[in-house]
Amino acid sequence: MIAKIADVEKNFKSDLKKVSQPNELEEIRIKYLSRKGLLTQLFEEFKSLPREEKHKYGQSINELKELLLKSYDEIKSKLESSQAKNETVIDYTLPERKKQIGSKHILIQTLDEIKSIFKGIGFSVYEGPELESDYNNFEALNFPGDHPARDMQDTFFINESFLLRTHTSPVQIRVMQQLKPPIRVIVPGKVYRNEAISAKSYCLFHQVEGLYVDTDVTFTELKGTLVSFAKQLYGSDLKYRFRASFFPFTEPSAEMDIWWQPAGKEGRWLEILGCGMVDPNVLKNVGIDPEKYTGYAFGMGVERMALRKYGIDDIRIFFDNDKRFLTQF
Ligand code: PHE
Repeated sequence: MIAKIADVEKNFKSDLKKVSQPNELEEIRIKYLSRKGLLTQLFEEFKSLPREEKHKYGQSINELKELLLKSYDEIKSKLESSQAKNETVIDYTLPERKKQIGSKHILIQTLDEIKSIFKGIGFSVYEGPELESDYNNFEALNFPGDHPARDMQDTFFINESFLLRTHTSPVQIRVMQQLKPPIRVIVPGKVYRNEAISAKSYCLFHQVEGLYVDTDVTFTELKGTLVSFAKQLYGSDLKYRFRASFFPFTEPSAEMDIWWQPAGKEGRWLEILGCGMVDPNVLKNVGIDPEKYTGYAFGMGVERMALRKYGIDDIRIFFDNDKRFLTQF
């Protein structure tokens, strides 16, 4: 009996040394510690010994049991902690998880296209603040104090002298105060109007202003530039027209419409921009001699351009942040 006990102990120890994986340890548990394992067998044999023999072996067999259980537990917890360390093990069989990264908003995409066309014909890009002075937004642009033309643009006033710009035209003033002619810039940006929100108008929208000041700038050049721009954006078969219009800061002034035929609907003219020759009063306000220089300016609505380009008929959808809409582009 003593020899058997020693044997089990010896074999157990040597088996345990070889263990490096949980399944190997499990084999050892079954071999020695399970209900039919070697330890149980020893106990069975022990039970059937005559009384005085039991006395002889009892202690050894109990010591063996303790040793086996203790060593088993030790190895088990060692294996578990080393497994925890290796938890970053990559399982190559898992299906991929698609990363959801954002995309450029359709308005920004349209803006990018507009910018790149104008850069291609020699315009550089400028920006100005959305919080503007009444002076830059109206006064310097030839809207006198209580002139009714101010009603053309319902304004969010901050106080007596500041407001959220109602158009990008105040940046014309900023640019002309800073640069000397020849000036050839476009100014993209957000503008704000206190209007009832509908499918056609929103309290916030985007414009791209254009300004060209030099000697001998003509209305013909203005028209030529805008037509060439629109055809690059919409294709050379674009149908367009210019209508005479009024802006306090340009004279003469016009608006440009493009033909829009949404699928399955009646076609219609869509106004996309206002334009004209920079009014001599505006040049005077920024200290440019109107006898020597002339200029043209235009301001286009980016949402309008995008509506036509992507066949959308409700301006509000640009601002809803609905992923179902945004991910289509
Ligand atoms: N600022 C005008 C508007 O918002 C557009 C415009 C810009 C017209 C430049 C003429 C010249 O309606």
